[in-house]
Amino acid sequence: MTELNAIVESARAAFSLAVTPADLENAKAQFLGKTGRMTELMKGLGALSVDEKKSRGAAINLSKQAIEAALTERRAALALAELEVQLKAEALDVTLAGRKRGMGSLHPVSLSMERIEQIFGSMGFDVADGPEIENDWYNFGALNFPEDHPARAMHDTFYVEGGKLLRTHTSPMQNRYAVQHVKKHKAAMSAGAVMPEIRVIAPGRTYRVDSDATHSPMFHQVEGLWIGQNVSFKDLKVVFTDFCHTFFETKDLELRFRPSYFPFTEPSAEIDIQFQSGPLAGRWLEVAGSGQVHPRVVENFGLDPEQYIGFAFGMGADRLTMLRYGVNDLRLFFDGDIRFLSQFQ
Ligand code: DAH
Repeated sequence: MTELNAIVESARAAFSLAVTPADLENAKAQFLGKTGRMTELMKGLGALSVDEKKSRGAAINLSKQAIEAALTERRAALALAELEVQLKAEALDVTLAGRKRGMGSLHPVSLSMERIEQIFGSMGFDVADGPEIENDWYNFGALNFPEDHPARAMHDTFYVEGGKLLRTHTSPMQNRYAVQHVKKHKAAMSAGAVMPEIRVIAPGRTYRVDSDATHSPMFHQVEGLWIGQNVSFKDLKVVFTDFCHTFFETKDLELRFRPSYFPFTEPSAEIDIQFQSGPLAGRWLEVAGSGQVHPRVVENFGLDPEQYIGFAFGMGADRLTMLRYGVNDLRLFFDGDIRFLSQFQ
């Protein structure tokens, strides 16, 4: 019987070496298959006497059962192992931190634009939008620029195909808006009515051939225009002072109107501001150009300059944003660096 025991033991050993179901089926064939060792032993029974057959047959059967039991046990173990591998592979680790999708936010200059629109909106100003590709008339002609004005030179202005140009300021919106306004009220005006005042701001992108720490070829301006029968420099001063107080959230701030020159205003002034406290205190900072709208510009609106008068201003929106947030290099606004931009969330 030790021979049978040895076969059972070697079957157990072979089964436990099998790591896949296919290995196990091969191992099974070696013992229980058609030419397997147990099958061969059974075949040998034929040559024995009846008594010997009985006892030998019973012993072989017991061994065969032992081998089958070992096989069943190993099958179950392999199936379980396979299930475990599968479960592990498909495991959902619910403790893994989620992947955050970064929240986008408005660009600091957009934040300023929104703020400017809101402040002027509360003072009764409409907000107008216009083309960045302009023609010479709106950008220069309607604004009383002489033919030979240096701003019209190629080294200051980007010209594009068809004699058009990238607007060098938001001032072309003065004529675009005013002409529409006049058209809208023309009938009533010819029947003797007074034109409702023009009160508008026009924020947007502007372009010049210029690039350094404080100049970018693309920058932002906000134009303002207020035309009526009795609008004066005093009104400009009040409106702009109010605007600065609200925009910078402080009344601790002085304004200075410094005489200047623009072809489209007469008289003209640069508007400087000075904070009385804080890190920028004591320095005059230029924030806008302004003036009383030139009679020829008013005429180009389709209005009689003897009857209608007003003022205009153009402010640097990037400059205002730098002052508001304490940013010292204009180029940071246009680099698109998330580390900078996310600070304005
Ligand atoms: N357009 C001028 C510039 O870009 C700024 C300006 C000055 C606008 C005076 C105005 C104004 O409306 O009245 O330099």
